[in-house]
Amino acid sequence: MGHDLTTTHIRLSPIPLHAERGLRLVRGEGSYLWDDQDRRYLDLMTNYGVNLLGHNHPEVTAAITAQAATLTNAHQSFDTPARDDFLHALGVLLPPPLTRISFGNSGAESVEAAVKYARVASGRTGIVATHRAYHGRTFGALAATADAKYRDPFAPMLEGFRHVPFDDLGAMEKVLDDSVAAVIIEPIQGEGGVRVPADGYLKGIRDQCDARGILLICDEIQTGFRTGAVFAFSREDVMPDILCLSKSIANGLPLGVTVTTEAVSDRVPKGSHGSTFAGSPLVCAAGTATLKLVGDDEIHRRAAQAGEHFIEKVRGLGLPQVREVRGRGLMLAVELKKPATPVIKSMQERGVLALPGGGTVIRFLPSILIDDAQLDEGVAAFVSAVRQSG
Ligand SMILES: Cc1ncc(COP(=O)(O)O)c(C=O)c1O
Repeated sequence: MGHDLTTTHIRLSPIPLHAERGLRLVRGEGSYLWDDQDRRYLDLMTNYGVNLLGHNHPEVTAAITAQAATLTNAHQSFDTPARDDFLHALGVLLPPPLTRISFGNSGAESVEAAVKYARVASGRTGIVATHRAYHGRTFGALAATADAKYRDPFAPMLEGFRHVPFDDLGAMEKVLDDSVAAVIIEPIQGEGGVRVPADGYLKGIRDQCDARGILLICDEIQTGFRTGAVFAFSREDVMPDILCLSKSIANGLPLGVTVTTEAVSDRVPKGSHGSTFAGSPLVCAAGTATLKLVGDDEIHRRAAQAGEHFIEKVRGLGLPQVREVRGRGLMLAVELKKPATPVIKSMQERGVLALPGGGTVIRFLPSILIDDAQLDEGVAAFVSAVRQSG
């Protein structure tokens, strides 16, 4: 006999890990979300960059629905058509040396695998990351993440990780020696405030790594598919040895992948890494439907244009409260001369959801299918919120 749920007196409450938004979301469609009062919100945060194609995209929803009615789960020791289709859809987008993949369920897991593969493939233990880097909250990913507020409560961190200033090739060069297995880098820092490095930075790191037999891990968990190109690394004609993708890759279902070369993969011992749920047919079906859509160059051309439209529009306003407007494609930020949180809160009251990206930065990670009129609606809410805040 099961529990009689009507007699349960204990209601679980979440450990208070997150700043409450005070909204109860019930449905989404395209670039909009609705709360339990049927109030509509323009979603310019897409769950930290997850809903790349907006909410409830018909093709992704159809794929999930069909797969849910067929087979949701199958361990990776079995083949399954849904996973094969995903491998094909991602393979079409990847440059040739990146032919090996493993599955996880989140961005952090994708990074976790990348760090493990770098260590085992190189026989070295050092990992170099950058100041303000964000790579996730599991212990390996956390050790690569820079911010003390995420690290300090859980010290000690894993050994062998170092951080150098971002966008500073001189600082990078100084720490690269033959104890370093890999450099891990976000081509554009996301959580760190949408920091776009100078042209040539990524290429410079690649060259420094090549000179010392060090692997390059590109964490494209946030940049992937949203900077006006499929991958941000391709802009500089750089090839990572290991590529981390997650967030938007299945438009809302939990999927993280770690892609690498045959040379790295050949040194990863069989059975040394894995996860029960990873690569399930259900998430793969969502991933395939998403990737089929993001294979269209026109989408990326549009996202690049939309990002430029946003940047020009906000810069053109000449708001005295704004320090800088930056980003690429639909990974955007406005840095204020004052705290961002009150402005984000006031935007929410005006029906627009945005994100912080550090103390004074408002971050925008909308769907790449958003149109200019919707972006203008977001800008209007931002302008009135920032003006009201003084
Ligand atoms: C660049 C980057 N790497 C890793 C992660 C961690 O992903 P997850 O939150 O899915 O573990 C994030 C999440 O924000 C991210 O932006």
